[in-house]
Amino acid sequence: LAGEIAESIGSRAYCVGGFVRDFFLRVPNFDVDLVVEGDGEELARKMAQHLGGKARIHQRFRTAALMLPDGTKIDIATARTEYYEFPAALPKVEKASIREDMYRRDFTINTLAIALNPDSFGDLIDYFGGRKDLEKGLIRILYNLSFVEDPTRIIRAIRFEQRYKFTIEDDTLRFAKDAIERRLLGKLSYKRIIQELMLLLSEIDPLPALDRIMEIGVWEYMIPEIDLNKVSRTMIKRTPIIITWWEERYYGKNIKGWLVYFMLLLAGLDEELVIQIIKRYHLDNYARKAIQESRQVPQIVEYLWESREILPGEMDQRLDGWSNESMVLLLLSIKDELLWEKLVNYLDLKEQVKVEINGFDLKEMGLKQGPEFRFIFDELYRQKLNGIIKNREEELQMVKK
Ligand code: CTP
Repeated sequence: LAGEIAESIGSRAYCVGGFVRDFFLRVPNFDVDLVVEGDGEELARKMAQHLGGKARIHQRFRTAALMLPDGTKIDIATARTEYYEFPAALPKVEKASIREDMYRRDFTINTLAIALNPDSFGDLIDYFGGRKDLEKGLIRILYNLSFVEDPTRIIRAIRFEQRYKFTIEDDTLRFAKDAIERRLLGKLSYKRIIQELMLLLSEIDPLPALDRIMEIGVWEYMIPEIDLNKVSRTMIKRTPIIITWWEERYYGKNIKGWLVYFMLLLAGLDEELVIQIIKRYHLDNYARKAIQESRQVPQIVEYLWESREILPGEMDQRLDGWSNESMVLLLLSIKDELLWEKLVNYLDLKEQVKVEINGFDLKEMGLKQGPEFRFIFDELYRQKLNGIIKNREEELQMVKK
């Protein structure tokens, strides 16, 4: 449909980027990116009309995000060329052909495009030998200044290298090492560094990439305070298993994987350093709160260990409001099987148990709305977790008492 609409408005549409790369690698990828020679915004609007979705247009970058009713997200960009006013700056943007749009990209494996217009539907566009490099498993830049213009590409190269178990092509590696030696990564803003680190830590198993980052001398530009040699490799290795287990058991409670790894990286640092790092990288409130919680994990493990007879309601007093990521970290830190079962039992109960009465019920009982409402609901919830009360009737009776 995208191709037909593009044709009708005199444009040409292509499917590009990670989706095409992963298609050839037979890796599932649901991020569809389209590039349009002509008018990307118009295509997005027309597609939204036809398919019943919503198009959000970002005029400045000539891009649009199309949200379809089934939840699919398609990014649509007008083919553009970019130029950099100075190294490591954000690029300036101008309209261009698909070839130019591909040329500004990082690695050959990301320059494949599939034509969508009816006259050429399904044709593979491969100007820079991307298909061959995919077969050979090579990460290769397109032009010598690639890392100078955008040093984050050094980190991206390592990410792809480790994700697909590819090799960074010899000349590319030389240019990367040269850029590192020239300290170009030092020119990047904290924002761009943390974005790359988050992407790296969002990989299923980021450990090999972290090792490579350290080996090649990039870590000192990321979070130099953290000594990667001191971070628990066992915990990092177990993390993907626990996250998968969690997401299957608590469907819908998705985990920000990067945050769990980030907490693990910060675990050995002093409180003050942690606060500095949180501030420096402008982490959002959710991440800040989760990291604060994660600092309590060792004490909580000790507390749970010492109070073996603890009831779920009492656990809730310590863990109420905790982020899913901190819970995962807590699970990761527990080695005793019985303790693990107790914690999982509490988490399972949290899924099932709900207080059935509400504020109206309390008012009907003659109680005045105020802070004690919160207290009553908390208490009811905990007694329910403990199995002392089971239904609405018993809740009402307990309030009366
Ligand atoms: N890109 C680039 N330089 C960067 C970041 C991105 O040239 N510093 C290009 C890449 O060619 C990439 C495209 O922009 O194909 C889209 O970027 P992104 O969505 O980050 O990459 P994906 O290739 O989809 O990677 P991932 O699978 O990690 O999402």
